[in-house]
Amino acid sequence: MRIAVIGAGHVGSALGRAWAWAGHVVMFGMQSPDGPQAHSFLEGMPSGAGVRATSVAGAAREAEVVVLAVPWDAVPAMLRECGDTLAGKVLIDVTNPLKPDFSGLEDDYHVSGAERVAGWVPGASVFKAFNQTGAENMADPAGYAAVAGGIRPVMFACGDDAVRKPDVLRLVEDAGFEAVDAGGLESARLLEPYGMLWIRLAHAQGLGRSFAFALLRRPNGQGGTSGS
Ligand SMILES: NC(=O)c1ccc[n+]([C@@H]2O[C@H](COP(=O)([O-])OP(=O)(O)OC[C@H]3O[C@@H](n4cnc5c(N)ncnc54)[C@H](OP(=O)(O)O)[C@@H]3O)[C@@H](O)[C@H]2O)c1
Repeated sequence: MRIAVIGAGHVGSALGRAWAWAGHVVMFGMQSPDGPQAHSFLEGMPSGAGVRATSVAGAAREAEVVVLAVPWDAVPAMLRECGDTLAGKVLIDVTNPLKPDFSGLEDDYHVSGAERVAGWVPGASVFKAFNQTGAENMADPAGYAAVAGGIRPVMFACGDDAVRKPDVLRLVEDAGFEAVDAGGLESARLLEPYGMLWIRLAHAQGLGRSFAFALLRRPNGQGGTSGS
């Protein structure tokens, strides 16, 4: 697929690198794509792969999938810069709408950032994913294989477009996670606080950033008798 990753920070670089290794064309949408920082950034990407840096709008225009990997407070400006290039595209929102002091989420968890993004870009198919774990885990999800008996970290994805959702789940798998469909975009109201839980455990509760959530299943569905 042709993927525009807007924001070449911790999350954007980890995901872009993984997708390049998986054979996708990755265009990083940057504010200064011709600057020396962009040049050295690209040198750290898989050589020979279809990776390049371009403008934010240029990357979005050429892509089938656009990944929003900028800080939450930069999202409106970034979307404005993309303009109408996002119409008809899959837009994966990885942001967490954090309060400036990281103590919680904006709006006290009543409305998800992803739903707000969908309201700002009504022509795009918005999905939420990759907000639920640290960037280190996105850089190396396979790092748990030895301790987890081959179980991969889980990554939930949600969005309303059932036709495009398999592409998004495939990208989650290509990034090294077990992809689980968490339902429509409204589920972002659950996934964003879940991302906040990871942050709180990592920082305030002292677990550090070297842990990930995984999904365990009983063999053959045994034992699942009680309802919610
Ligand atoms: N870090 C994590 O562990 C983690 C985990 C899950 C989700 N997230 C979410 O992922 C998002 C990105 O986090 P991050 O840690 O990757 O941030 P980061 O390392 O600070 O990188 C943010 C990137 O966004 C770029 N940027 C800022 N404004 C932009 C604009 N208007 N247009 C284009 N690019 C712009 C920055 O470029 P410049 O440097 O040139 O300004 C930088 O490359 C955040 O919303 C965060 O909540 C982060």
